[in-house]
Amino acid sequence: MYQFTNDCLIGIPEIDSEHEHLFNLLNKTDEALHAVDADISAITGRLLNELYEYAINHFAHEEAYMLSIDDPELNRQIAEHEAFRDKVTSAMAASDFTLDTALDLLTFLAKWLYRHILGSDILIGKFKKDAPSTEAYVFSSEYLTGIDLIDDEHRQLFALVNEVHSLVNDDLIFDKYDEIIRILTELRNYTEMHFHDEESYMEQINYADLDAQRRAHNAFIEKLVDINFEELENLDNNQQEYLQDVLDFLVKWLVNHILKMDKLIG
Ligand SMILES: [Fe+2]
Ligand SMILES: [Fe+2]
Ligand SMILES: [Fe+2]
Repeated sequence: MYQFTNDCLIGIPEIDSEHEHLFNLLNKTDEALHAVDADISAITGRLLNELYEYAINHFAHEEAYMLSIDDPELNRQIAEHEAFRDKVTSAMAASDFTLDTALDLLTFLAKWLYRHILGSDILIGKFKKDAPSTEAYVFSSEYLTGIDLIDDEHRQLFALVNEVHSLVNDDLIFDKYDEIIRILTELRNYTEMHFHDEESYMEQINYADLDAQRRAHNAFIEKLVDINFEELENLDNNQQEYLQDVLDFLVKWLVNHILKMDKLIG
């Protein structure tokens, strides 16, 4: 069973119910696959067709909604939706599913959905459109959870983001990309360490929402892994814009996560 849990709710009823429906499709298929004498390939084929149609409609709704509110994350969403469509299309080309490969496919689809909802959809409607910020990202007292370890690490995350930010925006430094990649890697490692520390702390206090926190953390880590470092090597204006845009996204996600989830730990 792939649970559509409360942490997957983004607070926009139409979108939430469509997400839930996507999970239902996966669960319905999971059940059908486990039936005696199940025709694995037929069931999987049916799922993929249904999923494709439903997902296309859902993405169109989501993108239309984002366009209507001038949501700054729209382009990133369009690219992710496109990637999902491609995945489903290429899975549709395979016809000889076994139970194992069909279940693998289900797991992949469910993971993608969790990750997309918790990593991207969760930000829909949360931030106004801004030009990429040229000012530093400020760690405000509003973000404090009251747990020193966690607050210190959040502060350090902001410090690292700002380090990348000032390098990206400093036009005087020549050949800075090795350094940018070094700090981005440090940021990624530090984020992983922080999530680990935070989860250990929650374990210690038997925190009820630990699973939801884990899912959110995993979704974000996978986003970080997706940042294409190789692409950054050729410095031109687009790369600068790309990096600035990535940083804006990272900060938005972190701010939203700290305010909506981490603060509850304290
Ligand atoms: Fe989406
Ligand atoms: Fe967290
Ligand atoms: Fe955190």
